[in-house]
Amino acid sequence: MSDKNNHILNLTRRPRRLRQTSNIRKMFNETEINISQLIQPLFVVEGKNITEPIKSMPGINRYSIDKLVDECKVLLDLGILGVALFPKINSDFKCDSAKEALNPNGLNYKAIRELRRHFPQMVIIADLALDPYTKHGHDGLIVAGEDSPLNDETVEILEEMAVLSAFAGADIVAPSDMMDGRVAAIRKALDSNKFKSTLILSYAAKFASAFYGPFREAIGSSIIKPSKVLDKTSYQLNPANRREAKIEVRLDEKEGADILMIKPAGPYLDIIRDTRESSNLPIAAYQVSGEYAQIMASVEKGWLNLEETRRESLISIRRAGADIIISYFSKSYAESCLT
Ligand code: PBG
Repeated sequence: MSDKNNHILNLTRRPRRLRQTSNIRKMFNETEINISQLIQPLFVVEGKNITEPIKSMPGINRYSIDKLVDECKVLLDLGILGVALFPKINSDFKCDSAKEALNPNGLNYKAIRELRRHFPQMVIIADLALDPYTKHGHDGLIVAGEDSPLNDETVEILEEMAVLSAFAGADIVAPSDMMDGRVAAIRKALDSNKFKSTLILSYAAKFASAFYGPFREAIGSSIIKPSKVLDKTSYQLNPANRREAKIEVRLDEKEGADILMIKPAGPYLDIIRDTRESSNLPIAAYQVSGEYAQIMASVEKGWLNLEETRRESLISIRRAGADIIISYFSKSYAESCLT
C-alpha cells in the first residue's frame, strides 16, 4: 500500500495560493477597466426622432441629432465622459471632391454644435476622414479610374475639417485616414486658427482590417460597391507588419499627436504593447465594429456569455497597455456595472 504522503509534491512555489479565495484574487488584481476611460462611438443621421438599428451590430443604432442628445445624456449618467462621432451622409451629398466634408452646416458639425450646447463638459471626438463623404468610400480624394487616394490634396481637406470641427466645439480631432504627414499639417492648421488647445488623437497604426465591415454598413460607405470589397491597402497598414507600425507610431508622435491610437484592438495587442513601451504618450485602442459583431453574434447563438466575454475583451486591451478604449461595448459595460 502506498503512503499518501508520497504523493505530495515538494514545491516551494505554489502560485495557486494567490488564487484561493475571491478576496485574495481581488486584492491582487492587476488591471482595471475604468468607465471614465471608455469612449462610446455614435452614428448620426439626418432627420428627427430617428433611432435606426444597425443589423450587423446588435444594440447599436444610428441617431438623428435630437436622439443623439438623449443618448449622450444616458451615457454621461453612466459615467462615460466621451463620445466619438461618425456621420452617415445622405448619398445625394456624396461626391468625388467630398465637398460636404467642408460644409459648416453639414450633419457632422451640426451634431457637434448641438452636443456642445447641451453638454459643455462632455469630451467630443470628431473623426477626420473623407469616407463618409465620397461615393467610392475611400478616405481620400481619388483620381478617376485609380484606387489609391491622393495624399497631399487629401491632407489639405483634413486640415480644414479639423478647424471646422474645433470651431463647432470638438475637444479632440481624430484623423482616421492614414495619409502621410497629416498630423503635423493638422496641428499647424489648428494652431494658426487659434485652436492651440484642440487635442489630436491620431490613428497612428491603423491596419487594413477585415474587422471594419459592420462600420462600413453603419456609415453607408460599403453599399456603393456591394460586389467589390473596399480595398484600403494602399494607405492602411499591412496586418503582417509590426515594424512598419512602429515607424507610423514614431512619426505621429514626432508630428505632434497628443494621443496615439492603435486599431483594431483585440487582434493587435502586440502593437498596443509595443507602443506602450516605446512612447510615454497616452494610448488609445479602438475595439472595432467587427470585434463587437463577432462577440454579439456568438452571444445571440448562445455560444458565448456576453458579460464575461465583453469584460475579458476589454481587460485584455487595458492589460496590453491602452489607457482609453473606444468601444461599442462602452455603454453596455457601464450598465452592467450598475447591477
Ligand atoms: C474610416 C474609418 C473606419 C473605421 C473608423 N473610421 C473604417 C475604414 O477604415 O474603412 C472603422 C471603425 C470600426 O470598424 O468600428 N475613416
